[in-house]
Amino acid sequence: MARLPLVAGNWKMNKTVEQTERLLSDLVNSSKSQRGVEILVCPPFVGLETAARVLQGTQIKLGAQNLHWETSGAYTGEVSPVMLAELCEYVIIGHSERRAYFGETDQTVNLRVKAALAHDLTPIVCVGETLEQNEAGQTAEVVSRQVRMGLADVTTSSAKGLVVAYEPVWAIGTGKAATPDGASDVIEVVIRPALEYVFDEDFAQATRVLYGGSLKPGNAREFFDQPEIDGGLVGGASLNADDFLAIIRAAA
Ligand code: PGA
Repeated sequence: MARLPLVAGNWKMNKTVEQTERLLSDLVNSSKSQRGVEILVCPPFVGLETAARVLQGTQIKLGAQNLHWETSGAYTGEVSPVMLAELCEYVIIGHSERRAYFGETDQTVNLRVKAALAHDLTPIVCVGETLEQNEAGQTAEVVSRQVRMGLADVTTSSAKGLVVAYEPVWAIGTGKAATPDGASDVIEVVIRPALEYVFDEDFAQATRVLYGGSLKPGNAREFFDQPEIDGGLVGGASLNADDFLAIIRAAA
């Protein structure tokens, strides 16, 4: 089944509004004729409005890095799906940094996924085991649980387009990427069967599953050559137009 590759830049807590405008202008100019890949950038909340303006009429899509599940109310510091839906199409949910530093759990991931879908935002649901879990042989159990619980009670019809990102925690920002074979195995043996458990086989086969963790121009091609890997969630290397473009080209 042909799944259009997606290359998504997760900027994390980087880039001011001014820097956002500059980086996106470079990306827009250099990616104009790029085909065969969907391109997405996820700047911090404060950069979204500027980003939406710069990206208007281009093929580059816009996403946020998190959202709250309520539509409005007394939740100081939070941003709601209604607010995001005015500006962007995608939202990253359950990134390991949110799980590790901000108390994100499979239950809150599930609330956020449902809220995103209810407001026509496409979730990129992040899953992945820690180094400790990996070394203890718990990868399959942990990742399967994250998919099944994060997507619990989500209906097949509402979840169309949903994306999963497999990001082994030990590979994020460490310069130590997983092996393409190893990541592909986890996707084939753990993530697609978990998607099939929640939804059905057709849905599992149609869903794009990205790899993330120290993707760079020099290693992206090997990952994207794996039939199970449908693109990448790129952190550090998405902050530089040339590196991000090289990864985009490797996926096309
Ligand atoms: P990295 O981050 O590419 O800097 O390892 C990936 C991510 O956290 O999404």
